[in-house]
Amino acid sequence: MRELITLQVGQCGNQIGKEFWTKMSAEHGISKEGVVERPEVQANDRKDVFFYQADDDRYVPRSILVDLEGSVLDTIRKSEMGHFYNSENFFMPNTSGGGGAGNLWSSGYDQACESHTDLFDIIDREAEGCDSLEGFILCHSLAGGTGSGYGSYLLEKLNERYPDKLIQTYSVFPAPDSTDVVVQTYNSILTMQRLIQHADATVVLDNVALNRIAEEKLKLTQPTVVDLNEFISTVMVSSTATMRFPGYMYNDLGGIIASLVPTPRCHFLMTSYTPLASQNAQQAIRKTSVHDVMRRLIEPQNLMVSCSRDKGVYASILNIIQPGSANSSDIDQTAIHKSLQQLRAKQRVKFVPWCPASIQVAVAKRSPFIEQSNRVSGLMLANHTSINTMFERTLRQFWTMLKSKAYLFKYAESKVIKGNENEFEECGNAVTSLISEYREMEKESYGSLSPM
Ligand code: GTP
Ligand code: MG
Repeated sequence: MRELITLQVGQCGNQIGKEFWTKMSAEHGISKEGVVERPEVQANDRKDVFFYQADDDRYVPRSILVDLEGSVLDTIRKSEMGHFYNSENFFMPNTSGGGGAGNLWSSGYDQACESHTDLFDIIDREAEGCDSLEGFILCHSLAGGTGSGYGSYLLEKLNERYPDKLIQTYSVFPAPDSTDVVVQTYNSILTMQRLIQHADATVVLDNVALNRIAEEKLKLTQPTVVDLNEFISTVMVSSTATMRFPGYMYNDLGGIIASLVPTPRCHFLMTSYTPLASQNAQQAIRKTSVHDVMRRLIEPQNLMVSCSRDKGVYASILNIIQPGSANSSDIDQTAIHKSLQQLRAKQRVKFVPWCPASIQVAVAKRSPFIEQSNRVSGLMLANHTSINTMFERTLRQFWTMLKSKAYLFKYAESKVIKGNENEFEECGNAVTSLISEYREMEKESYGSLSPM
């Protein structure tokens, strides 16, 4: 068994984590009390990757909830999910007296420095409970102080303490013109450096694109965080479907990452999902076939990242296709082959010149506990060089603010910034070099120059 431990950090991390686990419990037929609701159903699933069984046989998520202020954790505790998580895995260090990180990366990082020993007691306990831990999943946002700063410290420490384990992150990027957090650009770039350095794969979730999809696709006039988190949690459960309902391939995280990440640092993945639904949207059920789904997945308007895709090329694509119900035979290999041929004939997808232009397809079984109205649905995970447009935009804002020294005083007293006066420049440079590496990937010569 290759287990994964989830870490939900900060407000956004905990909110998307909660939705993720709500869907996970439904897919595995586990009640909010951790009980298998219909034991007579043959699920053919691997619950143990994400859950363990307590002495009374209840299923408990391998998940740890971290925040520097109590309100989100309290909301989860009081919700229907309150008894689902292990109550010992709610971790709120008292370093700021419960005041959070005040939207400052440096405050989150410093508080992590002070409190990590207690958190690692929990992480180590979870790790010891695994047969063969494969890695960690971090859910967080980049714009605030906790998910970004505490998350950054965790990435460094996890890598140091568990060097041979994988780290995948679901990272929510802010809207560039959002006025929520004035220093979000600093927080994002400071966190990006840790993601580049320490994560094996980062699923980039972009609030701007998610909002646009909610408005355009689901016709929601004022999408809320609940709508966005519905999309995000759908992506999260689908991207783990092949590990939980395994087939022949892509049945562990390592297999998925290996198929998508050609070189260690270029591991920032885009997603699209179809057909999307939301509780708040009235939607006509569309006719779906394997080809409809495969075609829609590469349409720019379905992409959950704002970037201009005509500016770059794909380094890899993995489509995870699922039938609407567990006993459906809607997905056969012939339909997939035919669809791949049609897409190739129309030259819809442009690939890097140094590797075969092939869309990888995994068919994941559907949970027997869930009936979907659509016959087929699909998730695309893709490594595309135009992710750069998003990084370039953030970086431009970052250098402009840094040049004018705007808001730097807020970070000045922090231990981590005092410890390295070049922290900001170094992180900016790390992102600059990631952008160059993605640009290099577009060239013919790339494969021969870089170690594969
Ligand atoms: P501090 O509160 O500063 O200590 O850090 P934090 O990590 O708790 O901050 P938070 O997660 O609230 O980060 C703010 C950023 O995350 C903003 O860009 C918000 O738009 C975004 N955000 C917050 N909650 C959610 C959520 O539930 N879903 C999505 N999609 N974005 C969120
Ligand atoms: Mg917070």
